[in-house]
Amino acid sequence: MNICIYSSVEQAASAATLLIAAQVIKKPQSVLGLATGSTPLPIYRELIQMHKGGLLDFSKVVTYNLDEYKGLAPDHPCSYKRFMRENLFCGINVPQGSIHIPNGLASDADNECLAYDAAIARIGGLDLQLLGLGANAHIGFNEPAAQFTAHSHVVQLTDRTISDNRRFFGEGEPVPTHALTLGIQPIMQAKHVLLVATGSGKADAVRSMIEGDVDPMVPASILQMHPCVTIVLDADAASKLSGR
Ligand code: F6R
Repeated sequence: MNICIYSSVEQAASAATLLIAAQVIKKPQSVLGLATGSTPLPIYRELIQMHKGGLLDFSKVVTYNLDEYKGLAPDHPCSYKRFMRENLFCGINVPQGSIHIPNGLASDADNECLAYDAAIARIGGLDLQLLGLGANAHIGFNEPAAQFTAHSHVVQLTDRTISDNRRFFGEGEPVPTHALTLGIQPIMQAKHVLLVATGSGKADAVRSMIEGDVDPMVPASILQMHPCVTIVLDADAASKLSGR
């Protein structure tokens, strides 16, 4: 694991942005795995700025998002489809047909997951997978469990994740209890994994991911087995690593 620690969230986000930009410049037809949530927001803002400044062209890029809430329509204000449109795709030039996000309304969600894995395999896998980190160490919505699940699947979200995600939903609005998520296999088969974690709320998860055993109860710990992982942290997220 290549672990990079920055003094602020902004510096961590800029470092992650540069890694993504370098990937797109090196290989304009890159297949990017993308995440939602608070962590990537400053990264997406910087990518938009770089695109608007003429530095980055996404016209040949293909994207696959990690996950989507089961039961939310693509236009629901809290769907990840809408999140991606409003926070990234509205400001860069990935062609519509090159954007992939699991369909939360699929009538057969298991089949939707199978088809998603097959599409990623057909295109040759992900060149770069961007990940955030759950406070419970989930990656995508691979929640702590008795075993790792290789393939993409429908998952029941833990109470912790549901309460962490409540902040994105309106007062009194129910938070979905299930999601479609990329499994561990397509994440582990990505050529490069870039995990970004910021804030003290992630410090315990960061420590277990890096210093604990590989354990499906700490889903991100599987990344210890990946040959090319970059972990970008701010000082708060890194604060519980030994030696700090
Ligand atoms: C989002 C995702 C999740 C988030 C994680 C951290 O697509 O897959 O694993 O990356 O829950 O969320 P934030 O960044 O909001 O703390």
